Amino acid sequence: MNEALFSRVLEIVMEEVPARRSLVLVPGAAGARRARASGGIDWEAGPDVCRDIVAKALESGQPVLVRDLGAHPDLSARGAPDRVPGSALCLPLPAGGAEGGAIYLDRSAADGPFTAADLEFLAAAAGFLNFILAGTAGGGGSCNGGNGGGGPSQIVGRNGAFRKVRALIEKVRNTDAPVFISGESGTGKELVARTIHESGPRRNGQFVAVNCGAIPDPLLESELFGHARGAFTGAAREKAGLIEEADRGTFFLDEIGDLTLNLQAKLLRALEERSIRRLGETRPRAVDVRFVSATNKDLDNEVREGRFREDLYYRLKIIVIELPPLRERREDLVPLINHFADRYAREMRRPRPYFSPPALEMLLRYAWPGNVRELQNEVRRCLVLASDGNLIREEHLSPAINPRRESFPESSRRFAGARADFEKRFLLEALARCEFRRGRTAAEIGITRQGLFKLIRKHGIEVPRKAEVEAG
Ligand SMILES: Nc1ncnc2c1ncn2[C@@H]1O[C@H](COP(=O)(O)OP(=O)(O)O)[C@@H](O)[C@H]1O
Ligand SMILES: [Mg+2]
Repeated sequence: MNEALFSRVLEIVMEEVPARRSLVLVPGAAGARRARASGGIDWEAGPDVCRDIVAKALESGQPVLVRDLGAHPDLSARGAPDRVPGSALCLPLPAGGAEGGAIYLDRSAADGPFTAADLEFLAAAAGFLNFILAGTAGGGGSCNGGNGGGGPSQIVGRNGAFRKVRALIEKVRNTDAPVFISGESGTGKELVARTIHESGPRRNGQFVAVNCGAIPDPLLESELFGHARGAFTGAAREKAGLIEEADRGTFFLDEIGDLTLNLQAKLLRALEERSIRRLGETRPRAVDVRFVSATNKDLDNEVREGRFREDLYYRLKIIVIELPPLRERREDLVPLINHFADRYAREMRRPRPYFSPPALEMLLRYAWPGNVRELQNEVRRCLVLASDGNLIREEHLSPAINPRRESFPESSRRFAGARADFEKRFLLEALARCEFRRGRTAAEIGITRQGLFKLIRKHGIEVPRKAEVEAG
């Protein structure tokens, strides 16, 4: 399929980006991979530097640019272009399916190394190929670096500790035992709670989540347990509590460390008696609820200091799942980046863009204090920022991640260009801060909504359809 088209794209690429040898790998019929090569690459034959580089690109799901193969002894040893150390450039084609497609170029040292501009051009061509592949592959399929499964709450992670998390979820999903999840903010506690709910027999019931720290105590009590009519001023009619709503489902208590001692006592009773009392009622109502709780506080310490009941703590943590911070599982960064890039590209109905090697390196070096949530928001921001190309570069990254970001791109050497560039960046920054809510953004930066809409159109900014970035 599309053989002619792929050859044609390769020809165009070679006109723009001179190369000695080239290779396009695409999925053929029945899952077989077909190679279309020129310049003396024999994909089926023995060792060749192109195999190693293609493998590397497929592994990471991101571009590989080797300026000087001679500087990589393990690569150049296996037959560089014309047996002379040179330069190589390879982009994976994630839409090519499980086996993975790729586009590869190399040339000898005499022709000079591949440049950032070459990468940019190849990224555009690869975007086009991905688009064609996604159309023919059926499944709309851009998946790479993630793991099977699918569904709304897909947990990505290959880290060892994370494998244990997965095994624990598997073990507890069919039981009713309370689960206690600890981990810094943004490590995926709610995602794990939801996954437990969705993968077990309670999935037909509701998953009700309450952030104990977000609601003041007297209100939280009636929210959790419900109230009778006239139980307090303002209680005009009776109301079921959230725990009742989770009957035959799962109740997720987030930030349980913020629960007051008064409510801790009431919660303990609900757990022990498997029933609740609405405020202003004496009759208990039976509830069949699985409790999952989470906190980013050190609850052992809270217990020691007398701020958290020990008996409740032991009741809640029958099964403990600890989520490590992202900085302690760096091997998960690339799969997560690809996962979110895929997801937001799909939402924005565009091919998944590539990260330039320096941009990717900055993402991999950053400490991610906000964990997966921060990474997710960053990837999404980058996709919006780089909506005019198929390559995310360093200047698209937030200042925290790219401290050198103040340099101006070539497009803005002239005043008008610099101003437009600033304007666009300023808008994107503000939009991202306001979770892409336009009304809020306009108010924050002090312009009218109409004015903001005009600027969004002027700069061709693509605002994600589903603005569901969560705040830290
Ligand atoms: N391992 C993971 N794989 C995919 N997405 C994740 C993962 N961990 C967290 N996320 C996403 O990051 C965001 C923050 O996760 P969340 O569960 O709300 O964290 P927490 O409750 O610990 O603050 C959510 O959008 C979640 O879907
Ligand atoms: Mg949370």
